[in-house]
Amino acid sequence: MNNKKELKFPKGFLWGASTSAYQIEGGIVCDWSEWEQKNADRLVRKAKTYWSAKQQAMFPEMFNRENYICGQAMDSYNRFDEDLACIKELNSNAYRMGIDWARIEPKEGEFNAEAIKHYRAVLQKLKDNNIKVNLTLWHWTMPLWVYNQGGWMSEKTITDFVRYSETIIRELGDLVDSWITFNEPMMHIGHGYLDGKFPPNKRWSILNIFLVFKNLIKTHKMVYQIIHNKFSQAQVSIAMTTGFPEPAHKWNLIEVLMARAAYYLRNEWFLNRVKNFIDYIGVNYYHHDRIIWYPPFKKNLNKEIDDRGWELYPQGIYYILKGYKKYQKPILILENGTADAEDRIRSRYIKEHLRYIHRAISEGVDVRGYFYWSLTDNFEWAEGYWPKFGLYAVDREHDFKRIARPSAKVYGEICKNGILKIIK
Ligand code: BGC
Repeated sequence: MNNKKELKFPKGFLWGASTSAYQIEGGIVCDWSEWEQKNADRLVRKAKTYWSAKQQAMFPEMFNRENYICGQAMDSYNRFDEDLACIKELNSNAYRMGIDWARIEPKEGEFNAEAIKHYRAVLQKLKDNNIKVNLTLWHWTMPLWVYNQGGWMSEKTITDFVRYSETIIRELGDLVDSWITFNEPMMHIGHGYLDGKFPPNKRWSILNIFLVFKNLIKTHKMVYQIIHNKFSQAQVSIAMTTGFPEPAHKWNLIEVLMARAAYYLRNEWFLNRVKNFIDYIGVNYYHHDRIIWYPPFKKNLNKEIDDRGWELYPQGIYYILKGYKKYQKPILILENGTADAEDRIRSRYIKEHLRYIHRAISEGVDVRGYFYWSLTDNFEWAEGYWPKFGLYAVDREHDFKRIARPSAKVYGEICKNGILKIIK
């Protein structure tokens, strides 16, 4: 009996990997680089109580201050050709990358011509290799002068971001295939102003949550319009932090309502405000949450978890995609990945998510591309370097060499043929 099945993805489907400037480039001075210096020792102390004994034993680097300092990152600013070699080796036809505002405009109104030239060369190389570019304008980091004026709490940041965006659109726009104005605005809001995990470290700062929310929406709409004025066919969106919350007990009305509220806040609140100013929906999916009505309000079964403790839950992406069908917009999966230093589960993780994405496509959801997070290992924000998301490991101790993990080959085969082979 033949138990093999082939799932074909639509023609022209985009296959690639995703990165963000700050997490891989190195040498950027911004709000995050300052924050790391001030918080590294605290994060070392926190690791002792926050992470499980198994995680602590597997990743002793979480007890080194250096783990929490981005510094040279993967040195991708100087090694783009090495990253490009990986992108090509994966048989990708697309790449999601970011531009860093702090590098482009380190001082107010002073634009770094060298950096713009650099990014132009990078984009040109991608074009020469027939790789479509999805470009992110803002992935959480900001120049210090913007941070010092209050970041997204300040009205002035709107005008400043618009001016930065205009520069990028004018200088680089002809080489960009699709745009993301903001990566996961709700993560910046949640961690910056609710639990205080990210800069500016505010907790339960409710008024600021609404202020930042409002300013981000206003800015997105303005930048959307500017891109469209110059490129009428442009594809512009934001990358949504999606997650699939479900009640732990379907009969428990409180849990059902809590899960619905969580679903709305996470997946739709921001999107509904910009839905007439996006050409597609950018989906980042990693999580599901099993909601319980008592603290800590979430309790996953954790049948299979990755190094960070995130449960493998690929069916969640299917429910998210089905939920987004009502917006009647194309969808790009812009992030989906797992922290897996030993590459135990990554190949299966990718295949399982793709199987559910294929199922959503076959039920009429217009998914146009998949970008694995991430191309290489990178700087994982407040966790620093120990979680390894890369299809390629990077030897930061020695020569920054990119080393393919076995899953890179598996994913590369899928990208090459646009076919997922599954054994039933
Ligand atoms: C962010 C990435 C991050 C990834 C994994 C996403 O929410 O956009 O920057 O590296 O999660 O933690």
